[in-house]
Amino acid sequence: MEPLAASPDGVDLDRPSAARVYDYYLGGSHNYAVDREMARQIVRLMPNVPRVARANRAFLRRVVEHLVAAGVRQFLDIGSGIPTAGSVHEIAQRLAPDSRVAYVDVDPVAAAYGRTVLVGNPHVGVVQEDLRRPDRVLSDPDLLRVLHLDQPVAILMLSLLHFVPASDDPAGVIAHYRDAVASGSYLAISHVGLLPRPPVEGERILTVYEQVGTPLTPRTEAELTALLRGFELMEPGLVAVHLWRPEDVGEPADGSDDILSGFRAAVGRKP
Ligand SMILES: C[S@@+](CC[C@H](N)C(=O)[O-])C[C@H]1O[C@@H](n2cnc3c(N)ncnc32)[C@H](O)[C@@H]1O
Repeated sequence: MEPLAASPDGVDLDRPSAARVYDYYLGGSHNYAVDREMARQIVRLMPNVPRVARANRAFLRRVVEHLVAAGVRQFLDIGSGIPTAGSVHEIAQRLAPDSRVAYVDVDPVAAAYGRTVLVGNPHVGVVQEDLRRPDRVLSDPDLLRVLHLDQPVAILMLSLLHFVPASDDPAGVIAHYRDAVASGSYLAISHVGLLPRPPVEGERILTVYEQVGTPLTPRTEAELTALLRGFELMEPGLVAVHLWRPEDVGEPADGSDDILSGFRAAVGRKP
């Protein structure tokens, strides 16, 4: 994918963005010097971080494939990031061409690339908005153009909610989305877990994110379970991201890699 010719409005080139740093972890080209500097700092502290990002994208693919197989044709991907190979509409529309996807991200680069890449795809919409304003997200004309909220929707919040501090009431925000979608809808999350004995490098990574103004909030199993209230968890429940219905038997067993095991994932269904 070609980089945009000009920076979209609202981009602060002096501050790294979570979306562009993540793009760098995944080997993308939609990032600036300030993002690469931060990403390299993180990778020096924890060389496995890009591997976690790839494991998270593999989880995304498995979730979408399972949900399409379960009959879901509508996806609301919140905190979708900069479109990269293996985006939700590519996975879903390959299996079910009538699948519809609304992408939501607060980041102007993510939204601008989304619009560039998705122009001409009538089943896909792009919304630049903050997750914490669910009324605005759910009434956005581009979202309502592609999603029918009276039919089941899979809400994807992958590697997103750790950017929402407790003071912003993430459970209340999720409840708003849950109440707006039909019975038979799903919620998928992946999230930085709070390990019982966090490695010292983990603490330093939190400091780096905090210094650049996007603090990370790792959560315990109990806190993550609370975020999933009102959804019935699909098997195998809340697990390490690479252990949610894995396909590759060569993947490491739980516990063999603390950082991968500490990145949690779950999918629940609204009854
Ligand atoms: C680590 S990326 C994850 C991208 C994608 N969901 C994935 O898992 O591959 C996190 C994304 O969440 C977005 N984000 C962070 N806080 C947000 C908020 N309050 N509202 C909407 N998007 C947000 C960032 O801009 C970034 O694109």
